[in-house]
Amino acid sequence: MIVETAPAKLNLALHVRRRRDDGYHELETLFAFVVDGDTVTISPADHDAFSITGPFADGLITDADNLVIRARDAFRQTFGVTDPVEIVLDKRLPIASGIGGGSADAAATLRAMARMFSADPADDRLTTIAAALGSDVPACLFGRTMVGRGRGERLRGIAGLPPMAALLVNPGIALSTAAVFAAWDRVDRGPLPTGDAWAIALEGRNDLEPAARTVVPAIDLVLGRLSRFGGVRLVRMSGSGATCFALFDSAADCATTAAIIRAEHPGWWCLETELS
Ligand code: C5P
Repeated sequence: MIVETAPAKLNLALHVRRRRDDGYHELETLFAFVVDGDTVTISPADHDAFSITGPFADGLITDADNLVIRARDAFRQTFGVTDPVEIVLDKRLPIASGIGGGSADAAATLRAMARMFSADPADDRLTTIAAALGSDVPACLFGRTMVGRGRGERLRGIAGLPPMAALLVNPGIALSTAAVFAAWDRVDRGPLPTGDAWAIALEGRNDLEPAARTVVPAIDLVLGRLSRFGGVRLVRMSGSGATCFALFDSAADCATTAAIIRAEHPGWWCLETELS
C-alpha cells in the first residue's frame, strides 16, 4: 500500500500579465506548500476501484473525469502499466478553493503510481503528464517553493522562505477558476518583484483578488478579519480564491487566531498548518 499526501498549494504571489489567444492567462506566481492536505492511497487489487472519503467527499465524481483517474490512466498509458489498483482519496481540502485541491490529488496520484510501479520520480514524462492534466499540477508534483511562469507550468525552485505557521480560511463558497480569470480587468500590473522567496511574497500581489471579491464578497470579510490579528506577517488570497491565508512567525499566534476565527465564524473552513 502506498500513501501520498496531496498538500495544499498556496500562491504567495500571483501576477497576471496578459490573456493569451488560447484563452489561458500568462502568469508569474510564487508557489508554496503547507504540510497538510488530502491523502491518496493506492493498493494492488484484483480490479480497478476508486472511492472518496473525508469531509469534502460529498458530490464529487468518481468516474473517469476525476483528475485522480485521469492521472492514473495517463500514467498507465505512458509507462505501459496494466495492473489493476484500488485508489482511495481522502478529501480534506475544500473543492474549487484556490489551494490546489484536484491538482494536488492528481500530482499525488502520479507520485504514488511512480512509487508502486518503480518509475523514476525525476522522469520527465511525469511532468509532461502533469502539465496536460492542469496548470497547477506540475508545481504540485514537485511540491516545493517555486516560481511558476506561463500557465504556471514553467517552474524554477527558489530558496528563502522561512519556516512559518499558516492559517488557511475559506468562507465556504466554491469559486470557479475560469469565472475569476474571466472577471480579471486585463490590466497588467507588472512582473513579480525580484529577490528571495520571502521578498517576493512580501512585495508581491494577487492580481485575481479584486475579480474574486466581486464574485464572492465574503473574501473581503476574511481578508479584513485576518489582517487585524497580532503576529500576522502576511495576509493574501490564494490562487483564484476563495481561500485566504495568514502567515505567522509563531505557531501560538496562529493557534490563537484560529480559535477566534472558528468561534466567530463556525461556517468558515479553517486549517491551522505550517509551510513545508
Ligand atoms: O489548467 P486548468 O484546468 O487548471 O485551468 C482551469 C481554468 O482556469 C482554465 O480553463 C482557464 O479558464 C483558467 N486559467 C487561465 N489561465 C491560467 C490558468 C488557468 O485562464 N494560467
